[in-house]
Amino acid sequence: MKRFSLLIACLAVVVLSLMFAVAVSADGEMMLTTTAAPSSNCLTCHDSMTPGIVESFGGSKMAAVLDCTSCHGNHHADKTSAPTIDTCAKCHADKVAQYKEGKHALAWDSMVACPVSAGNSPVLTGLTNSMKGCNQCHTVGIISDELIAENNIVRDVNPCDSCHLRHTFSVEQAKDPESCAQCHIGFDHPQYEMWVDSAMGVAYEAGLKAPSCVECHMKDGNHAVKTAWGFLALRYPEEDAEWLANRIAILQGLGVVDRNGEFTDRLKIVSDYDIARLTAEDFNKLYSEEKTRCQECHAASFVEAQFNAAETVMKEADAIMAEAIKIVYKLFDDKIIKPTEGWDVYPDLLQFHNSDNTIENELFDMFLSYRNRAFQSTFHMNADYTFWYGMDAMRVSLDNIKAEDATLRALHAAKTTKTIAFIGIGVAVVALAIGVLVFLKKK
Ligand code: HEC
Ligand code: HEC
Ligand code: HEC
Ligand code: HEC
Ligand code: HEC
Ligand code: HEC
Ligand code: HEC
Ligand code: HEC
Repeated sequence: MKRFSLLIACLAVVVLSLMFAVAVSADGEMMLTTTAAPSSNCLTCHDSMTPGIVESFGGSKMAAVLDCTSCHGNHHADKTSAPTIDTCAKCHADKVAQYKEGKHALAWDSMVACPVSAGNSPVLTGLTNSMKGCNQCHTVGIISDELIAENNIVRDVNPCDSCHLRHTFSVEQAKDPESCAQCHIGFDHPQYEMWVDSAMGVAYEAGLKAPSCVECHMKDGNHAVKTAWGFLALRYPEEDAEWLANRIAILQGLGVVDRNGEFTDRLKIVSDYDIARLTAEDFNKLYSEEKTRCQECHAASFVEAQFNAAETVMKEADAIMAEAIKIVYKLFDDKIIKPTEGWDVYPDLLQFHNSDNTIENELFDMFLSYRNRAFQSTFHMNADYTFWYGMDAMRVSLDNIKAEDATLRALHAAKTTKTIAFIGIGVAVVALAIGVLVFLKKK
């Protein structure tokens, strides 16, 4: 009898566990399986369910010391408990601290603060779990608890796997310039394309003593990436008076300086998210570190000449940019074109391609694509980008903007003449009618 009840008890346990297993697979929800499941328990399902993950993690250096539960915990109840940066910080506090000092950590915030984000579809700006737009790249930043909660985000909350792809989390793979190329490519930041076909990229690929991205930007494994000029090349203050005037026109195009030449609230975005270095001290510190890095392989005079030449290109690019911005600015001020509905900044380069005015969209291409290519290529030693995709494209774009300006003004003048003609005819008709009335009355 005793044996019989033991058998019943055992059967009950088996049936109960089966029920749990069925519950898991039936509604696909992760309600919990067992308590205190050891890693081998994870593998009973994940070996066949996600064999790729199990195999990749098996190839990780961490596999010798860690198991699935070290990062995921051993419960399966809470879908939102994906490993965050704090999970990694438990064992890699130094790397996490460096990363937090650098620009990557700010990537989510700067993306959300960018005015274009408010107007785009959530799938594109990526405040969803879809990862089909801005956030597929900007996920290299730290996402705040508020954003997670507000948008019900449960995936891609860990920024470390942007470079150390899961579940191998390897250093070798992260060091490969291809890993940076996931994001540093394309329209407005083609650093990978520039570098890979430069003399240094070719030398590196050939196995010579030459720098890759990491050599210049993450020296000694320092995760605090940050450059002097930054993404938008907006050094402020600027000593060169002529350049400063052009820079201010650019800041107006970005809505950071208003029509009276005063800083606007947007300056806070620039400073909070470290979009530009706002003191000469901050700028010079980073600048001299960058130059020192080159001197491992080049003479100081060679390096100085390179940086000076880069500045000459940037100054020329800014002169073209400022001229174009002023043309579009004046079209708004002369009321020849209207601001897009809901925009209180116009033109607004931070709204990307979303303007109702073709000329403003052209101005955006000139700014974010052509100007960026011109200056970024000077530091990544790619003349094709500096000239053809950069400076030359800017000149073509300026021509287009001037032509469009002339057309818009001519159309406006014709419209005005037409209106005046209509008013003239109206007045003549009324005068005639009065004349006829007076004539008839006299008769
Ligand atoms: C009884 C089978 C089973 C066991 C045991 C199991 N899992 Fe899972 N796991 C699942 C199922 C089912 C899913 C959902 C898969 C899907 O969405 O297609 C899942 C998904 C996951 C996910 C992804 C969650 C998400 O929202 O994308 C993680 C992480 C995970 N399991 C970790 C673990 C860990 C760690 C263990 C060991 C403590 C474990 N699992 C044990 C069945 C199991
Ligand atoms: C429980 C402690 C622990 C946690 C949590 C942890 N790690 Fe590790 N990690 C280690 C240990 C230990 C090593 C060293 C393994 C070795 O070198 O043999 C390591 C090594 C690494 C390496 C170097 C691999 C290589 O190729 O040399 C990377 C990258 C890494 N971890 C990333 C991460 C990331 C990202 C997270 C969070 C998702 C994380 N780790 C969470 C303990 C941990
Ligand atoms: C292909 C990947 C990718 C996509 C998609 C992408 N970005 Fe970026 N973004 C980057 C990279 C890389 C940088 C840094 C480039 C640099 O410094 O040269 C950046 C920089 C920025 C910056 C400037 C940050 C700073 O502090 O300098 C903002 C703002 C920004 N992106 C917003 C957006 C928005 C909004 C979208 C979607 C409409 C978007 N990005 C789509 C990769 C991407
Ligand atoms: C070093 C930490 C670490 C370990 C150990 C680890 N994972 Fe993960 N895992 C992560 C990170 C980071 C993510 C991505 C989380 C995010 O960004 O939302 C992830 C995501 C997942 C996902 C969901 C995403 C997808 O691609 O489907 C599954 C499933 C998963 N892990 C299973 C496992 C299994 C099974 C093991 C053990 C073989 C394991 N993990 C071990 C860090 C780890
Ligand atoms: C921009 C890409 C990138 C991101 C994001 C990144 N890493 Fe790294 N990580 C690297 C590279 C590259 C190296 C190797 C640097 C070197 O040794 O030259 C590295 C090295 C490491 C190492 C090995 C250190 C050693 O001394 O062996 C650990 C651990 C590590 N990273 C953890 C992390 C953690 C944790 C995060 C998230 C906060 C993170 N990484 C985010 C690119 C990245
Ligand atoms: C998942 C996408 C992604 C990957 C992978 C990535 N980055 Fe970035 N990177 C960004 C974004 C987005 C920014 C802009 C951050 C911000 O908004 O502040 C950025 C900014 C930077 C900056 C700072 C530029 C400035 O404004 O001063 C440097 C330098 C940089 N990345 C280098 C690298 C290197 C080197 C690698 C490869 C080891 C790498 N990144 C990998 C997305 C990425
Ligand atoms: C020879 C050193 C060197 C190499 C190699 C290098 N960079 Fe740069 N990078 C620079 C310098 C110098 C700057 C400009 C720094 C400044 O703002 O003062 C820069 C600027 C940047 C910026 C900020 C915006 C810009 O383009 O001016 C990003 C992002 C960046 N590099 C990413 C990369 C990536 C990704 C790779 C590899 C594909 C790479 N870099 C290779 C030296 C290098
Ligand atoms: C690790 C060594 C190394 C570092 C660091 C390095 N370079 Fe180079 N660089 C090379 C090699 C190798 C070549 C190819 C030489 C050739 O063209 O024969 C090269 C080529 C160049 C060239 C084009 C070739 C020429 O001679 O006209 C320029 C310009 C240049 N580097 C500038 C820089 C600048 C600026 C930095 C710092 C931001 C830098 N390099 C950092 C190794 C390095």
